[in-house]
Amino acid sequence: MRTIAVVGTGYVGLVTGVSLSEIGHTVTCIDIDEEKVLKMQQGLSPIYEPGLSDMMTKNINENRLFFTTQHAEGFQNAEVIYIAVGTPEKEDGSANLEFVEQVAKDIATNVTRDIIVVTKSTVPVGTNNRIQSIIDHHLVANVKVEVVSNPEFLKEGSAIYDSFNGDRIVVGTASEEAANVIEEINQPFGVPVFRTDVKSAEMIKYASNAFLATKISFINEISNICERVDANVEDVANGMGMDKRIGDKFLNAGIGYGGSCFPKDTKALIQIAGNVEYDFELLKGVVKVNQKQQGLLLEKLNERIPDLKGKRVAVLGLAFKPNTDDMREAASLVVTEELINLGAEVVAYDPIAMDNAKRILNDKVQYANGVEEAVTSSDAALVLTEWDEVKNAKLDVFDRMTYPLVIDGRNCFSIEEMKENRIEYHSVGRPSVAVSNTVLSR
Ligand SMILES: NC(=O)c1ccc[n+]([C@@H]2O[C@H](COP(=O)([O-])OP(=O)(O)OC[C@H]3O[C@@H](n4cnc5c(N)ncnc54)[C@H](O)[C@@H]3O)[C@@H](O)[C@H]2O)c1
Repeated sequence: MRTIAVVGTGYVGLVTGVSLSEIGHTVTCIDIDEEKVLKMQQGLSPIYEPGLSDMMTKNINENRLFFTTQHAEGFQNAEVIYIAVGTPEKEDGSANLEFVEQVAKDIATNVTRDIIVVTKSTVPVGTNNRIQSIIDHHLVANVKVEVVSNPEFLKEGSAIYDSFNGDRIVVGTASEEAANVIEEINQPFGVPVFRTDVKSAEMIKYASNAFLATKISFINEISNICERVDANVEDVANGMGMDKRIGDKFLNAGIGYGGSCFPKDTKALIQIAGNVEYDFELLKGVVKVNQKQQGLLLEKLNERIPDLKGKRVAVLGLAFKPNTDDMREAASLVVTEELINLGAEVVAYDPIAMDNAKRILNDKVQYANGVEEAVTSSDAALVLTEWDEVKNAKLDVFDRMTYPLVIDGRNCFSIEEMKENRIEYHSVGRPSVAVSNTVLSR
C-alpha cells in the first residue's frame, strides 16, 4: 500500500482520496479552502455524493484518511501526488490552467523525495508536458519527478460507485515504471487499465466527453423533428439503442446537458482544435444545439401563457442532474433567470441542491419544501431535473395548481397517466396531452 497526497478536494479529488483510502492506501487530501478542510477534518463531506460520507468517516476512523491546508505537510511522505484541482472555462472557452500550474509549483518547492505526479484534472493536450517542465524548472531538491496523465471519468451522482465499477482507467506516460506503480495502486478497484502515451490520454478525456455531448445534442435534434412529425422520441431512442453499434445510453432527449464538465470540455476541445488551425465544425454544432435546447421549454410555456407577468411558475429540480448538489451550468439557472426577466414569480424545489441554488439565485426565487408545496397555486410547473422524488410524485398534486399545466424538460411522466389524470402535459419529442385551445390567463 502507498502513501498518497491528493491536491484539491472537489467532486474528483475528494472521491479519489476517499476511494484510494478505502482500498487501503494512506491518503492526505489537501485543499486551500480552510472552511472545507475544517469540515472534512470533522468527518463532514462538503459535497453531496451517494455513499461518500459513510466511506469518508470510516477511513478517517481507521487512520488512513487525513485533511490539511498545508501542501508541505501533505507531500511530506507522499510517494504519489494526485492533482485534482479545477480547470474552469475562461471567457474564450479555453481551460484555465492557473490552479494546475500553481500546484505544479507547490510540488516543486515542497517535495524532498522521488515522486510520481498524477494529473486527474481535465487538461488540454500538452498540459502534462508543461506540468513536467514547471516542476523540473522550480524543483528545489535533487529528486526525480515523473508526471502521468490519468484522466477521471466519474459521473457526479454515482461517483463512488464509478470508482469501483469504472469502465477503464487510462494511464498516459512514457515511463513503464510509473505506469506500473499507478496500475498497482488501482489494482484493488478491479477496473481495466488502458496504457497509452501522455497526449493520447489527455485527448481520450476530451474526446469521450465531446462524444457523449454529441449523442445528447443528436437525440435532442431528433426530438425536435419528432415533435413536428408526430413521432415519439422515446420509442425512437429505444429502437435505435437496440443496435449495439449505437448503444442505448445517452439517448434521453431533454433540455440539454449541463454540469461542470460537458459545457466546458466541449468548448475547450473546440479551442484545442483551433490552436492547431482545425475547425471542429461538428462540435460547434453540438454546443449550439445545446444552447438552443434550453430555450425550447420556455417557448412551449410561452405558447400557452404568452404573458408571464405575475404568473406563478413552479420549477421542479434545480441541480444539473439527479443525485448531485452541483449547480454548475445547470439548465435551471438559465430557465429561472429568464422566467424572472419575463415577470414570473418562481417557486423552486430540489431535494438536495437547494442550499447551493440559494447561494446563486438568492431571494430572486421562492423555495418550497416539496413538490406539492411548489406546485400549489402555480399557473405552470416546469420539470428541470429528473429526481426520483419528482418522477414518483402522485399526479393528483397537480390538481392543486390553478390549472394543471406541466411542461417537462426531462420526460419524467407517462403520457398515458397524464392523459388519465387530465393534466395538460408537454414533454420533449413526445406527443402533447390534453391541450386546451384557450390561451391561459388569469
Ligand atoms: N466534477 C466532475 O464530474 C468531473 C469529472 C471528471 C473530471 N473532472 C475534472 O476534474 C477536475 C476537478 O473537478 P472538480 O469538479 O472536482 O472541481 P471542484 O471545483 O469541485 O474542486 C476543485 C478544488 O480544488 C481546490 N484547489 C484549487 N487550487 C488549489 C491548490 N493550489 N491547492 C489545493 N487545492 C486547490 C479548490 O479549493 C476546490 O476545492 C477538473 O479539471 C474537472 O474538469 C471533473
